[in-house]
Amino acid sequence: MNISIIGSGHVGLVTGACLAELGHCVVCVDNDEEKIEKLNRGEMPFYEPGLQEIVRFNFLEGRLRFSNSIAEGTRHGEVLFIAVGTPPKPTGEADLSAIERVCREIGANMTGYRVVVEKSTVPVQTGEWVARNLQKYAPTGLTFDVASVPEFLREGSAVHDFKHPDRIVIGVSSDRAAGLLVKIFEPLNAPILLTDIKSAELIKHSANAFLAMKISFINAVAHICEISGADVGKVAKGIGLDSRIGMEFLQPGIGFGGSCFPKDLSGFIAISQQLGYDFQLLKEVENINRLAREWAMSKLLHLLGGSLLGRTIGVLGLSFKPGTDDVRESPALWMIGDLLKMGAGVRACDPVSIENARQILGDSVEYFQDPYEACTGVDALLITTEWSVFRELNLLHLKSVMKTPIVVDGRNLFEPFRMKEIGFQYAGVGRAALGQEVRG
Ligand code: UDX
Repeated sequence: MNISIIGSGHVGLVTGACLAELGHCVVCVDNDEEKIEKLNRGEMPFYEPGLQEIVRFNFLEGRLRFSNSIAEGTRHGEVLFIAVGTPPKPTGEADLSAIERVCREIGANMTGYRVVVEKSTVPVQTGEWVARNLQKYAPTGLTFDVASVPEFLREGSAVHDFKHPDRIVIGVSSDRAAGLLVKIFEPLNAPILLTDIKSAELIKHSANAFLAMKISFINAVAHICEISGADVGKVAKGIGLDSRIGMEFLQPGIGFGGSCFPKDLSGFIAISQQLGYDFQLLKEVENINRLAREWAMSKLLHLLGGSLLGRTIGVLGLSFKPGTDDVRESPALWMIGDLLKMGAGVRACDPVSIENARQILGDSVEYFQDPYEACTGVDALLITTEWSVFRELNLLHLKSVMKTPIVVDGRNLFEPFRMKEIGFQYAGVGRAALGQEVRG
C-alpha cells in the first residue's frame, strides 16, 4: 500500500521506516530541508537504536523515500499519517498549529479518497477539527476519512516497540478506513482495538498520564521510605509482584522528562479543564515530579554544608533517559540550571547527548565524553541518567579522582551499603537512610 508520513521526527520516521519494512511503499515528508538531505544521505537526524539500518535498507530497496513536499506526500499515499509536533502552549494546552498547516496542504492536494490519520498525540475531539479543516480546503465532492492511531513508542526502544506492540488502537468512523488500517497493522500480530476516534485520542492521553502517575506515585513513596527508614526497592518489588500493579514504571528517581510525559500531562489537564473537569490528580503528578528533583538537590546541598557557591559538581547524564540523545525536558538539564543559579560549576558527561545539551546550555557547562574526566576534582557527583556506562564505573577509581567523595544518586545506580563501604558520602532515592545492607 502507498503510505505517506507527514512529519519525520521520533515518531514519524520510525513509523515510516517500520511500515516500509512491512512491505509498504512509504514517503516520509518533513519541512526541515536539512533533515531531508541528511536522510537522503542515509544519516539519521537523531539517535535511535536500530533505526539507521532499517532506513538505509528500505531506502535502497526503493520502499522508502524522503520529501519536503506535503503535496507530493498527499498524492502518493492513500493513507496519510500526521506525525508533526504538538508542543504545549504557555497555558499547557496542545499547540495544533502545525497540524492545521498540514491539513490545509493535504486538503488542497487530495486527488482521491484518503484516510488522514492522527499519529501525533492530540487532545480528545481533535478528529472533528481535523475533518473540518480538511473539508475547508479539499475539492468539493472529494471523500476522505479521518482516523486516530496513537503511538506508544518509547524513545530508545521505538523500533522494537513498533514491531512488538502490546496493542494497536485504531479510532475510525467508517468501515472503509477501518479496513485499510487493519490491513496495514494486522501483520504485527498484536491485539487490535477498533474504536471511535474520540476514544482512541483519549486512550493516548490516558496511557501516558497513567504511566507518569505511576512514576510520581513511587517517587512519593520513596520520600516516605527515606523518612521512615524503609527501602523503596523492596516496596516497589512488593507491590509490583501484584499482577494488577506490575513491576514496570516503579523505578524511583529524579522524575520523568522527555518530549511526551510533561507535554501530554499538561495537554490532558488543559483539555479536561476546557471540558469542565479539573484534573487535580494529574496536577499533583506534575508537582511530585518537580519535587523529586528538588528533593535530590536538597540532599546535595545538605552533603555540601548548605551552599554550592564556588563548588564544582560532576553530573553524569544529560538525556532524559538512557538509550536516546533527546534532552527535551530532561531532569538533568533542569537540575544543571539550578546548580548554575546557585553558583556551582558543572562538569557534565553523557555518551550521546552532549551536542543536544550544548544547544540549550551553551558553554555554561564543561562537557566530557569520559565520566572519570568529568568527575576529576569535583566536590560532589550528581547521577541523573542511568546509562549502563555509569553503572559499570570503577568506584575505587572514581573516588580517587574526586575532590570529595560525595555522591547523590538520582537514579539509584549503586547500592548504599557498598558505597559507604568504599568511603563515599552517599544519598540515593528512597533507600534506607543509613544504607544498611538489605539482603535477599
Ligand atoms: C513515553 C511512553 O512510555 C510511550 O509509551 C509514549 O509513546 C511516549 O512517552 P518515553 O517518554 O520515550 O515514552 O520514555 P519512557 O521510557 O516512558 O520514560 C519517560 C520518563 O520516565 C523518562 O524520563 C524516564 O527516566 C522516566 N521513568 C521511566 C522513571 O523515572 N521511572 C520509571 O520507572 C520509568
